[in-house]
Amino acid sequence: MMNFHILTLFPEMVMQGLHTSILGRAVARECISIEAVNIRDYTLDKHGKVDDYTYGGGAGMLMQAQPVYDAWQAVAGRIAVRGAAPGRVIYVTPQGRTFHQKMAQELAREEDLIFLCGHYEGIDERVLEEIVTDEISIGDYVLTGGELPAMVMIDAIARLVPGVLHNTDSAVTESFYDGLLEYPQYSRPEIWHDKQVPPILLSGDHARVDAWRLEQSILRTKERRPDLYEAYCSRP
Ligand code: ADE
Repeated sequence: MMNFHILTLFPEMVMQGLHTSILGRAVARECISIEAVNIRDYTLDKHGKVDDYTYGGGAGMLMQAQPVYDAWQAVAGRIAVRGAAPGRVIYVTPQGRTFHQKMAQELAREEDLIFLCGHYEGIDERVLEEIVTDEISIGDYVLTGGELPAMVMIDAIARLVPGVLHNTDSAVTESFYDGLLEYPQYSRPEIWHDKQVPPILLSGDHARVDAWRLEQSILRTKERRPDLYEAYCSRP
């Protein structure tokens, strides 16, 4: 069982998105749990304010340290009560290391992961220094907040948790598992818009099918992702 905790100003957004389809069923079957903690619930400001102007001036508002810290403490306290190791705290930010499949595999071995989602112009640096263990970006583009990136990472990590996918094969054979892109796939009918399914797939010869698929994976990777192809060729 792996537990995801998300510190956010928009809990409905992450809870809706992550309780749909495969992850929703994984929650129901208790392979994973997903908890969204509303940072605003922890503000001491009587008007519910969580942001303020930045010292030094400049555009935009910054999330203040206190509500973020107190929201994190509430989660960390619940983890400690279970006797589990303190969860890693991932600050979702375009300034972090870029997320990739190997990071997903590594993070999938944790029992608890805490995602901190920023908004506005970011979060007061002092609370980041105190609680954050990892800073991760999902790519070189800027989004309006950390919720979508957190959802992307949680989806990629959760599907690697044992029991989340029924077919353990599908986590193994697909794109990126061995550093190659996936081969093309076909379903019925055998002919559609005058296009015939590659005959070898109808041969019933599993060894030849596997060899064809590997060859297609390699061709595809060479053509579409020369960077991955290079790495595949020079693997040990
Ligand atoms: N917040 C805004 N943009 C982001 C990105 N690309 N990755 C992670 N967090 C973000």
